[in-house]
Amino acid sequence: MERQELIAVARRMIEYARAGTTATHEEGPRRNPISTYTDEAQFELEKRRIFGRQPQLICFSSDLPNPGDYRTHDDLDVPMLVVRTDDGRVKAFLNSCAHRAMRVAEGAGSGVRTFVCPYHAWAYDLNGRLAGIHKASTFGAVDKSCYGLVELPCEEKYGLVYVAPAPDATFDIDEHLGDLAPELAGWRLERARFIETGEWRLASNWKLALDTFCEGYHFGPLHPETIAPLAMTNTMTYDRYGRHGEHHRLGFPLKSVVDLADRPEEEWGDPHAHFNFVYYIFPNISLLVSPNEIEFFQLYPGERVGEHLTRYSAYTREAPEDDARWQEAREHFQFIYDVVDREDYRVSAAVQRNFDTGLRRYTTFGRNEPSLINMHRTFRKMAGLPLVDEPAPE
Ligand code: FES
Repeated sequence: MERQELIAVARRMIEYARAGTTATHEEGPRRNPISTYTDEAQFELEKRRIFGRQPQLICFSSDLPNPGDYRTHDDLDVPMLVVRTDDGRVKAFLNSCAHRAMRVAEGAGSGVRTFVCPYHAWAYDLNGRLAGIHKASTFGAVDKSCYGLVELPCEEKYGLVYVAPAPDATFDIDEHLGDLAPELAGWRLERARFIETGEWRLASNWKLALDTFCEGYHFGPLHPETIAPLAMTNTMTYDRYGRHGEHHRLGFPLKSVVDLADRPEEEWGDPHAHFNFVYYIFPNISLLVSPNEIEFFQLYPGERVGEHLTRYSAYTREAPEDDARWQEAREHFQFIYDVVDREDYRVSAAVQRNFDTGLRRYTTFGRNEPSLINMHRTFRKMAGLPLVDEPAPE
């Protein structure tokens, strides 16, 4: 990102800090029905309309650096196989053999030339074409060209790999990201290097888990010994992106940002050293970009409305130059994992349990939580549901 943009963000943060305020929503506070997180019918609509055909950010380009590198993806209803082909492109397939539908790959790997189905050993090349039939002379004649893997729409750009989980879906990354595309391009995500991954299968709705990534109002009370000693509480910048404002960027200042206020900008060094960006990319991605690291969170609906899966992958923004940097990055991963596990997601599970009693009808998003108001409106709009938030009683 350009230095002038970073300076402008820092100046907004300093203004908020001096005024004791933050980015706000012009209509808040708004109360939101708890059925958002418990209603089975809404849950099914979300799975079908938001996760069934829309482009999904599956991984980073750097997760598949060379031809023959692949990974499977099982976090949506459609099991996927994503692979880099010999011409350098990334392709995606239904992870299912044309013979009798067995999975042809598991986990992740590198440098493969074919995928051999474990059931009867049919083999597929990197382009998903049937390359070999085990004991073909006894099987009988079939037209191999009719027996390839089912290809899924896939596009790679800005260091990101997107797949739509429906063969007949069409999408364009630039159209999906809108004006967020140049912003993400500026972070050079293709240089990111994977460090570590973790996951949670938690008794909380996927949107409830996402809520915790979208406001800084809770930093002081919930994270007194982890986040709050360095970061400001209840102070953030908020910017919307995308054709319908469906994506957003939050800027969370460190306390050190106010030290910049009285110094000439030429002496600021890297302004980004004084804040972190947390992007929400519709529908299910939280992407934290700090000066040295990237935290990539993918959230998916679970089996039931009150369950979800979070997959967390940590990256460095550049390849670590030595072992000490690798170790530092691993420790950073563990720090973030522990904060989410012991603090944010402990709360999410407790909240969902209370939601499930049915004894409370609303939660309320404050003026200081503009991202939550707009994000939940987007969820309903994209699921084809009418808006339901309303002014909080005064
Ligand atoms: Fe794959 Fe039979 S199911 S070879």
